[in-house]
Amino acid sequence: MAHAAHAPLEGRPLDAGERLWRRLPEGIRDTRVGRSYGSWMHRIVRRRAHREMYLGTQFLRNRPALELARRIVARRGPGRPVRVAVLGCSIGAEVYSLLWTLRAERAGRELVVDALDISPEVIELARAGRYGPDASTFVGASIFAPLSDAERREMFDWDGPTGTVKPWLRDGVRWHVADAGDPTLVTRLGRPDLVIASNFLCHLPPEAARACLRNIGALVAPGGHLVVTGVDLDVRTGVARELGWQPVAELREAIHEGDALVRADWPWRWWGLEPLDRRRGDWVTRYSAAFRVGAPAPGVAGPAGPATTQLRPTPRGPRRRATPGR
Ligand SMILES: C[S@@+](CC[C@H](N)C(=O)[O-])C[C@H]1O[C@@H](n2cnc3c(N)ncnc32)[C@H](O)[C@@H]1O
Repeated sequence: MAHAAHAPLEGRPLDAGERLWRRLPEGIRDTRVGRSYGSWMHRIVRRRAHREMYLGTQFLRNRPALELARRIVARRGPGRPVRVAVLGCSIGAEVYSLLWTLRAERAGRELVVDALDISPEVIELARAGRYGPDASTFVGASIFAPLSDAERREMFDWDGPTGTVKPWLRDGVRWHVADAGDPTLVTRLGRPDLVIASNFLCHLPPEAARACLRNIGALVAPGGHLVVTGVDLDVRTGVARELGWQPVAELREAIHEGDALVRADWPWRWWGLEPLDRRRGDWVTRYSAAFRVGAPAPGVAGPAGPATTQLRPTPRGPRRRATPGR
């Protein structure tokens, strides 16, 4: 697959309409008229778009989505390892961000993590876990921008401007060059308890994205969870309803607002994410990024506990980072 080396997430020129829109106060953009105009513009943009695949990514890109993943994993029953798969992982920033989040409090709990991308080039960089200034240029986004100084120190060993992911985060990830739409993927990944598919389905034409998303859903272990962002909302809503996925309410709005790279680009780029609109009849499914997949009907206890669309909050003490060597 051909990739654009430079994703247009940052530093691209704006046209006059977009400049004007960005100058409007939030209160005006958020009126009924403002949203209708935005939706109309976004439909045109998507219809005309030449949907190239980009590599854009960042560390800790969507913190609420990472927090939800942490809670989902924390609530899995004891016993066997928790299996997690990250699809379309680009140069690995998302995978290491997830591991940093999960391993912080699950020290002692075994995780099996599979990460895949269709591009061999990015998997090579991800596996090495070494990121110099050229890595941001390569993916077209400032990969370290969301990190505080403390987080930079926790996640990386630094050699000047180059950060190498700490060994406690690199260990144990199984990296694959693979297509998320491949129906035989289950033979390589098994059935993960949590599957994450972020920011690549929107680059596919709607029918291809639908087929790929159905395939991704079929990977998830019965009663497991799928977190899928960066996808046309009509595609995600349609497939979720067709396959009976249960929307997870917890952190729904925070996740929707959690990725500045895509929220800021609506309605001017096809990957832009519309504001959450509770007036829509389908809003519960439309704005859910997380779903419980293949779970028994509500009220019937499944393998991972009672089927419910509302995850209980986990009581959290001070964050423990018990893993040595950081
Ligand atoms: C925009 S990046 C998103 C990276 C990361 N998931 C994130 O959210 O920051 C999209 C990535 O998906 C990969 N990709 C595109 N189509 C894919 C497919 N069918 N299977 C696996 N990876 C794919 C691309 O190679 C690219 O690295």
